[in-house]
This record gives sequence, C-alpha cells and structure tokens, in this order.
Amino acid sequence: MIVDEREHSQILESIHLTSHVVSTDVDTDLSLRWWHNAVIYEVFLRSFSDANNDGDGDIAGLISRLAYLKELGVDALWISPWYVSPMLDGGYDVSNYLDIDPRFGTLEDAQHLVDACHELGLQVVLDMVANHCSSQHPWFKSALAALPGSKERDWFYFKDGQGEGGNQPPNDWKSIFGGPAWTRTQNLDGTPGQWYFNLFDSGQPDLNWKNEEVLAHFDEIFRFWFDRGIDGFRLDAVSAIGKDDDYRDMGFAPDDLYRPDIWGPVPFYDADGVHDVLRRWRRVAQEYPTEKFLVGEAVVRDVDRLARYLRRDELQSTLSFDLCKMVWNADAFRQMINTLQSACLEHRSWMTWTLSSHDEKRTVSRYSQDGRADGVLANVTASGHERARSGYLLALALPGSACIYQGEELGLWEVTDIPKDKLRDPIYFRTGRQELGRDGCRVPLPWNEQGPSFGFSTSHDSWLPQPHGWADVSVATQLDDKTSTLQFFKSVLALRSSIFSADEWAVTWDPSPTGVLILRRGPDFRCVVNFSGEPFRIGPDEDALASSSPLTGERVIDVNNAAWLCARREPTN
Ligand code: GLC
Repeated sequence: MIVDEREHSQILESIHLTSHVVSTDVDTDLSLRWWHNAVIYEVFLRSFSDANNDGDGDIAGLISRLAYLKELGVDALWISPWYVSPMLDGGYDVSNYLDIDPRFGTLEDAQHLVDACHELGLQVVLDMVANHCSSQHPWFKSALAALPGSKERDWFYFKDGQGEGGNQPPNDWKSIFGGPAWTRTQNLDGTPGQWYFNLFDSGQPDLNWKNEEVLAHFDEIFRFWFDRGIDGFRLDAVSAIGKDDDYRDMGFAPDDLYRPDIWGPVPFYDADGVHDVLRRWRRVAQEYPTEKFLVGEAVVRDVDRLARYLRRDELQSTLSFDLCKMVWNADAFRQMINTLQSACLEHRSWMTWTLSSHDEKRTVSRYSQDGRADGVLANVTASGHERARSGYLLALALPGSACIYQGEELGLWEVTDIPKDKLRDPIYFRTGRQELGRDGCRVPLPWNEQGPSFGFSTSHDSWLPQPHGWADVSVATQLDDKTSTLQFFKSVLALRSSIFSADEWAVTWDPSPTGVLILRRGPDFRCVVNFSGEPFRIGPDEDALASSSPLTGERVIDVNNAAWLCARREPTN
C-alpha cells in the first residue's frame, strides 16, 4: 500500500496533535537515544581491512582503521556476522554464535574492538542471524542424527517428502537464492530421509521459532553479546522467522525465486508469530541499564506490515531497503519516503535510511543507469557519481538514522568482471550461474594507491580481486583531494551532526518545479534534489551549506545534483 500525499499530511497532523498523549504500548519512554540521529557505517568485515595478511579482512584490521571511521564522522558501526561459520553465505551461516571465526580473530579481539569503539564514542551494532543457522551447527547435526518426530528435529522444519518413497519435496516452495526451498537428508544407514526447509541456501536450515528451546537459546546468545558491551543488533532477514503451519503449494513455477517484496502472503514468511518473538527480544534488550538498539532487516510486502515491526514494544527501527531499489525519479523518491515515514510515524519510531548494503549493487553503478537494482550494469558515468552523492544528501537529510555501507564514501562501483572461479555468492551457484550475485559490491576496500591489494592486506592479494582503477579512488588518494567523494562525505557528516536535532520526526515537501524535490526540515533547512532535465536556481534568500558538485555560478544546482540550503540570516549590526 502506498500512502498518498493527503493521507501523509493527515498522519503528520495527528502525530503533532497527539504528541503529549501517553502511548498505550509497552515502551512509553520517548526520550532520545543515540540511534535517533546516528550515522551507522556498515562494515563487511571480510572486505574491510586485513591485519594478518591472509587476504581476508579481520577484527584487528578494523581496529587499525577506527581513527579513519571516527574522522569520517560516523556514530556507530554495524559489523557483518563475525561468528564461527563455514562462510558459505558470507558468514550468514553461523555454526557457533558464541565465538569468533578464526579468520576474523578471537573473542579477545572482539572485546578490544568494542572497548576501542567506546573509547572513541562509537557504538557497536552486531549482525544477528536468527532465521537460520549453518548446517554445520551442532543443533542441526544432532537433528540429523535424531529420528523423525524427535525434539531435535523440532528445532528446524523437517517434513516427509511426497510421492513414491517420499522422493518429491513436501511442496513447491522456492528459496530466495534460487531452487527449491527443501533439501533432502540422508538417514544414518545411507537411505534417503526427510526434507528440511531452507529459505536461503541448503547450508542454512531455517530454525523453528515456535520451539521454546530455540527461543531460550537465542535469549542467551543476545545476553552473551550484550554482556560484552555491544550496543545493539541488526536483525538479519527478521521477517522470515514468522511462519505458519500451513504447507500448501503456493503455485510457484520451477524457475521462480521467492521474493518477499513481490510475492503476496505466503505461510513461510512474515507470519504474525514473528511479533511475539520481537517482543521477547525487546524485553531482553531492556534488561540493560542502557537500552540496546534493535534494527531489523524487515522486507515485507506493504507499509502496514512494516509498521507492525515498529510498534513501541518491538523494534526501534528498520532498514529502508526500498530506497536501494528506487529508479532515479522525483515522484518515486518522494512517495517512497512518505510511505516509509508513515510507517514510522504511526508508532513514533525511526527509519534507518539506507541506499546500499552488502546485498545491493553499488549506488554509483545503479545510478549510472536509471537506478534499478537488476539488469546488466553499464559503465559508471559522471552522472552516476553525481546522483549517488545527491541520493546521500537526501538520505542524510531525513530524520532518523542513516546507514553508509563501506566504500560508498569512496564512490566505489560494482565490480562486474570478477573471474567466475573467484565468485563465492550462493546466488551465483543456485541460479545455475545465471545471476552474478552480490560479490561485486563486496570487493575489499582500496586503502592506498599501491600494493597487491591497494593496502587492504600488506602483501597479499585480497580474497576478491580489485579493479586496477581503484588505485585512483583509494582512501589515501581521496584524503589528498579536496574535491573527492570522501571529502564530500566528511563535510556532509560534520554538517549533519551540527545542524539537525534528533527530535524532529518528519519532513515535508515544499512546492517545486516538476522533477525537483524540495524537502523541508524545520524552518530554515531545505534539501533540493534536481531529478529534472533543467538546472535549478537557488533563491536570493537562501545559501548553500553543501552540494553534490560545485554549484554553477555559485547558485545553480545542475541536473542530477542536490544541495542543502539554509535560510539566509539577516546581517546583525
Ligand atoms: C540477509 C543478509 C544477506 C544474507 C541473507 C541470509 O538478507 O543481508 O547477506 O545472504 O540474509 O542470511
């Protein structure tokens, strides 16, 4: 459901009128917390910085770069899964939640990182993968070793197959990564056994979130990390933990992928039971003197479903992945922002605005075309860079937190020519090598102009090869160039923390020429994004605070560009 303009302004009005009414939800404390205006930097650990020189990023590498992140001006880090994992899906296949994968370091390293972040005033948000674990996890191994109907099998979704000898999967459900969502097991005597459900890869069996033992295990996992000082969790694929016991066919064609944003209601995704689990997690998060932050990757089919995740006793925020899919078009952006804002306003929560992640094509590459996330990527263009900076000016002007995926601050592009034998994403393998998958946005960062991996490792190639052209966009190169994308991000983040107040709830839109968005935040601030084919001239009573590219003649925002403006103050005598 898309909220129209009138409905949106009614919601804004009603929020304004009811702002002093005590909420009937559990959490009535509306005081501001660190995440309400924070910039959260996503670290994909394996590709960030390698200190032990084995080609994989690690915790010590991240510690060595904390000063860079502090200077960039971010407030918090979201760290991709660092738990023990066979790394079949970039660490989103966890075989031990209570320890660190040796390729990343040790529990001691993790503690050093958390402490070092806190010393610098940075918050730490860990990724928590709860929908599934790895097929190498001891829980799954004991379920395989146990009999059908056992308590161990009830931790997962095991079913008998259909047809003769149970040779057909229990139904036609599909995986998000391609192929069937059911994998057949082998009995201990080698004969074919039951099937288990995997919404993602077969190495990621889905956990049964109606099983009290699963719930209790995760309470302890949350506490284990909270006790080590982490400040919150990014909850991976959180809507997927909602499942109904209804195993009917859904009418999928053999080649379909399951896509939460386009398939209507299905029994294995976003079922209402997810909300009981979220309330339970929230209660665990509230056991601590400083409340912990829970932000969900809640991909659902409409804004009403999204708003449920944001109720005051559930998640404090969700990531706005819809923005990553937007075509470069003023109306599309305005409507999506209104829609997501409405979901938040209903429960007085905040969105975590995000234009990119380790799952999405790089922003400059998307915007070098029309912004669509799918399709073949053309070469990166100057307008792709301008639009990406403009998109960030818009996202960073919105109330709530904002997320920057590593490398976006350098304007890195999607790498589309990784040799096929280096690709690691299960999407590539499960789609019969038709889809390249997400490796192209996970290529390790270039820190220097030189070296076998541009300073990512000291003398080792990186686990995914970097393009030659990245020498020119390395951190070192961009720090020396006042006009670089990195310097743009540094100055915009510094401005953001000085001009916005965290207690603003919503933005409105000022009248504007077709194809131009003018977002207003408070009496003095406007963000103009020029999606039109004509230059936009700034009025005489406003000044530019920041712009995606230098303004032409100092007062013109060119096509594809954006600027932050503030009302000109009367000169004081
Ligand atoms: C989330 C992660 C993605 C992962 C998937 C399965 O969408 O962001 O990287 O592959 O969940 O855990």
